Amino acid sequence: MIDRREFIELATSASAVACSSTQPKRVARTTQPLAKPLFVATWPFGKPACDRAVEVAGRGSMLDAIEQGIWVTEADIKNASVGIGGIPNSAGDVELDACIMSGPDHNAGSVAGIQDILHPISVARKVMEETIHVMLVGEGAKQFAISQGIPATQLLTDQQKQKWIEWQKNNHKRPEVDEDNHDTIAMLGLDEQGDLWGGCSTSGWGYKIPGRVGDSPIIGSGLYVDNAVGAAGATGVGENVMRFCGSFLVVEMMRGGANPTDACQMAVERIASMDPKRGINDLDINFIALSKNGEFGGAGTSNGFKFSFAARDESGVRDGRALSEKPIGPEGGNRK
Ligand code: GLY
Repeated sequence: MIDRREFIELATSASAVACSSTQPKRVARTTQPLAKPLFVATWPFGKPACDRAVEVAGRGSMLDAIEQGIWVTEADIKNASVGIGGIPNSAGDVELDACIMSGPDHNAGSVAGIQDILHPISVARKVMEETIHVMLVGEGAKQFAISQGIPATQLLTDQQKQKWIEWQKNNHKRPEVDEDNHDTIAMLGLDEQGDLWGGCSTSGWGYKIPGRVGDSPIIGSGLYVDNAVGAAGATGVGENVMRFCGSFLVVEMMRGGANPTDACQMAVERIASMDPKRGINDLDINFIALSKNGEFGGAGTSNGFKFSFAARDESGVRDGRALSEKPIGPEGGNRK
């Protein structure tokens, strides 16, 4: 028998999948289920988001839990890659992408390139629940949000404005893709009935061309939920996920019998094998997955920084230290 803390540490070491540019090495372990409702989310900032999701699930719906869990990250002014405080596009405007999925009715809502709205995940949910559409973009998405009673908010912080001014002076040098300027919250949830749910939110690639949309709001790329099989979400360079329907691919690997960790790893390997230009460690892509029976896992490429994810249930058990410090791929990676 293992206790819950040991279990979480096992789960996180299962995520420590080493990828080399020539011989991807698989170190996969099937995780045992946590109690339900269970939430899994990308990166260390996924921990407080999962905390809130569990709390909300105790008194609300799973969609409320996913939405309000993601609110925590969107409202974090220090987070430069999601919501307020996000790095702007090259014109100095913060443009946000988000989507949400409901497993039982296979419904989805999405917004892309939305400006001046603090919680794009809520607009995505409104698109899903209040319209006959799935995706709204740009000014139309913003006006729809306002029509739904969501107020406009200034998202560009003084700090990010200053950095943007420096970036312009610095010959528009393309920013390094790293934990600070390129990641996303993807959150997956499983309830007591075995139904699956998910959400995803990002400000996307720092200093992107205005109008650029990444994988995060694209159903099947940044997020996919199949209520019969499992759910998956992505973080990293959207261009290297959305060309391959990455999250859909992870779910299809689970449908074929792979456990969540293996499914994420197999998707990364498939993408690497299909990309003629990049070695596996240059892709900068990471996935999390949650199966219908409560197994969860994650895998990604190594590019010199650490991918981690958080998982927790209502017992509150998790190990943030292990979650945030276990790297995927070799220590020190081969950042280029
Ligand atoms: N994965 C977030 C983005 O590429 O925009």
